[in-house]
Amino acid sequence: MLFTAALTFVAGVSGLNVDWTGFPGATVGPGFISVPLSAQKDSAGLRRRAEVAGTTDIEVANFRSSNYVIDISIGTPPQKVSVVVDTGSHELWVNPDCSRSSTAGNKTENGQTVTYTDSPFSDPEECRKRGRYDSSKSSSLSQADVSDNTFGYVDGTTVSVGYVKDSISVGGLSITDQIFGVAKTSNQTGIGIMGFGPPPFGFNNSNYYPLILSTMAKQGVIKSPAFSMHLGDLDNTTGTITFGGVDKKKYQGALAKIPFRPVEVTVEGGQKFQHTHYYVNMKSMKLTKPGTTETKSYDLGKDAIATLDCGSTNNILPRGITKQVCDDLKGSLEGKRCTVDCAIRRQTGGITFGLEGKDILVPFYNLIEETVFQEVSFCHIMMNDNDIGGNPETHLLGAPFLRSAYAVFDWGNGNLHIAQAANCGTNIVAIGSGTDSVPAGNGECSFAIKSVTRSFWLMVGASLFVGLSVL
Ligand SMILES: *[C@@H]1O[C@H](CO)[C@@H](O)[C@H](O)[C@H]1NC(C)=O
Ligand SMILES: *[C@@H]1O[C@H](CO)[C@@H](O)[C@H](O)[C@H]1NC(C)=O
Ligand SMILES: *[C@@H]1O[C@H](CO)[C@@H](O)[C@H](O)[C@H]1NC(C)=O
Ligand SMILES: *[C@@H]1O[C@H](CO)[C@@H](O)[C@H](O)[C@H]1NC(C)=O
Repeated sequence: MLFTAALTFVAGVSGLNVDWTGFPGATVGPGFISVPLSAQKDSAGLRRRAEVAGTTDIEVANFRSSNYVIDISIGTPPQKVSVVVDTGSHELWVNPDCSRSSTAGNKTENGQTVTYTDSPFSDPEECRKRGRYDSSKSSSLSQADVSDNTFGYVDGTTVSVGYVKDSISVGGLSITDQIFGVAKTSNQTGIGIMGFGPPPFGFNNSNYYPLILSTMAKQGVIKSPAFSMHLGDLDNTTGTITFGGVDKKKYQGALAKIPFRPVEVTVEGGQKFQHTHYYVNMKSMKLTKPGTTETKSYDLGKDAIATLDCGSTNNILPRGITKQVCDDLKGSLEGKRCTVDCAIRRQTGGITFGLEGKDILVPFYNLIEETVFQEVSFCHIMMNDNDIGGNPETHLLGAPFLRSAYAVFDWGNGNLHIAQAANCGTNIVAIGSGTDSVPAGNGECSFAIKSVTRSFWLMVGASLFVGLSVL
């Protein structure tokens, strides 16, 4: 379902430059722009485990649900390109190599041959349909004074880019002279990535080329570098990202202010540096068992740090936690994945993640993904043990956490503002500048977690871009 709020352009706001026709779903107001994110899912990713006649031993290939896609235009005249939105990385790059995007193939896992098919994000044909940026056709192109770069994502995707400078329009709102990457080579992905993570060495951006959010603020399109994210529930295909504003009708209770914490990372060779990311302290994790009020807490260990990463389709947690949750839900753990009874999706309860000063409940309908293959439903918990490594080891609260939260990422002050997500309409308030610029006060939705009795439609598919550029 598309976000259909009326276009409410307010004239006279400096820096606004609206291309009406290209972005039917966007809402533009004084100092903010709200853009629909569409979750791309399909059922192409199903695989059958080693062919054994007469068995129904099947598994879902990409146990990777949706990624959130946004349409942008680049250059003059505008060229439309779709990209995945990711808070786990900070680079915008376009033009993936479609001839190397496919992940289809036969691989040996636990002594069995597993046939992988392509998801919409790795399918070469889908890739070719998605729009490409041709710099030679843009009159607003200019040289970027940034050296070529190669970066990777934890799923193994690697990209080499050259940088250019050109105009970019997001939701119809334009900035000029934005630096971004154009792929020279890439693998494993058939779609470019638009990172909205902070610059890696400080929110203030001084040691890095100006990223899009900073440019928006500098060019006066928004008052300060901040955006809000409302992904919507797992069974909804539409979320929104709001630059420079907070939608008070997308959450309930108070928005808690939590400073993002810096993390001193030690890289190979022993070198240390302060790394900026959406790092938060994970203080607690508690299961409310299905259909009951009975709870159980898990020990996350000392100093558990997580990154808020909407590009991660799983929550990646301290080792051992997934097995405990799986046992408590009477599921079965196979490899990294816990399969549970689909009935749990329709029951009350879920997992409450405690951040410093805010608890967010992720109800079972947002924590458990249901896929159907040959009319049989399979349900698994979107949660894995951490095997990313890193020093210190940091975990990921991915889309399966963020869908239940309303999150405001305020770079200007290095703070997260977070509340329990809800949806009772639209009332976007602009974020000003300076400290405490994120509007305080409670959200305007008062109802509790929605009833879990409605029917669910099903989804599978798509690719995994766990942000975390490893440079
Ligand atoms: C996988 O193996 C099957 C059976 O041997 C074969 O038909 C198929 O072409 C292989 N797929 C790929 C992508 O290599
Ligand atoms: C992508 O390319 C990089 C660099 O050539 C390589 O290290 C990586 O293994 C490749 N990934 C996959 C999934 O093939
Ligand atoms: C999905 O999200 C849209 C936009 O946020 C909202 O209008 C709609 O009510 C939601 N649908 C469901 C089924 O939750
Ligand atoms: C950014 O820089 C300003 C001015 O130097 C400073 O007041 C502010 O605290 C800095 N913000 C962060 C998040 O470091």
